[in-house]
Amino acid sequence: MPEVMRAVVFDAPGEATALLTTAVPTPAPVLSELLVRVVAAGVNPIDAKTRAGRGVSGAIEQFPSTLGYDFSGVVVRAPYETHPFPAGTEVFGMVPFPRSGGTYAQYAVVPTLSVARKPSALSHVEAAGVPLAALTAWGLVVETAHAHEGQRILIHGASGGVGHFAVQLAAYFGAHVSATCSPRNLAWLRELGASVVIDHTAMA
Ligand SMILES: NC(=O)c1ccc[n+]([C@@H]2O[C@H](COP(=O)([O-])OP(=O)(O)OC[C@H]3O[C@@H](n4cnc5c(N)ncnc54)[C@H](OP(=O)(O)O)[C@@H]3O)[C@@H](O)[C@H]2O)c1
Repeated sequence: MPEVMRAVVFDAPGEATALLTTAVPTPAPVLSELLVRVVAAGVNPIDAKTRAGRGVSGAIEQFPSTLGYDFSGVVVRAPYETHPFPAGTEVFGMVPFPRSGGTYAQYAVVPTLSVARKPSALSHVEAAGVPLAALTAWGLVVETAHAHEGQRILIHGASGGVGHFAVQLAAYFGAHVSATCSPRNLAWLRELGASVVIDHTAMA
């Protein structure tokens, strides 16, 4: 493991142009954490909001700071020999939200419970797009709304990162799904399980 790595950092809240790629110390895992080589990092709206001084910027303890929660990559160091994800395992997951971002980097330290084996059907880029958006959708559709047969659910922003997972989960659990999106996404949302698709650009 190199002592320094490349990471995308910012020195103060501001525009996206303030992001720069530079060398920073490689984080060291402690206790049950894994060290993962990041192959792909997911980008979520909260990253941009935080970079601009909103979002969860209050959780930033020091600058320069590295954004990013979602990742997909390969385990470099596991905490013990018989760990279920030994070095070389392809994994994806999310570093703890909102305190410790940092996946816009070559390496990330991740708690064991925040990691899952990457499905072979997904590329690293695809897997890195899943965790935060899918867990948000799971929280609202499954844990809060308790999606079930006979239930009608309306999902706004249905073609977005969170929305397209919400549509699929709601349909999977048997709900009747209505979804709003722009015209280019109407057919796609039907494919994902929406029974009614509404073009929000056509609404007065
Ligand atoms: N990503 C996450 O993990 C996450 C977690 C928690 C909270 N959030 C919050 O949830 C919101 C959505 O996040 P996201 O990641 O899903 O964003 P996103 O991928 O940018 O999706 C937003 C979607 O909203 C749709 N949209 C735009 N204008 C609309 C309108 N007037 N009416 C209806 N739909 C409209 C767009 O679809 P069309 O192009 O089809 O119009 C777009 O796909 C953000 O505020 C974000 O901060 C996100």
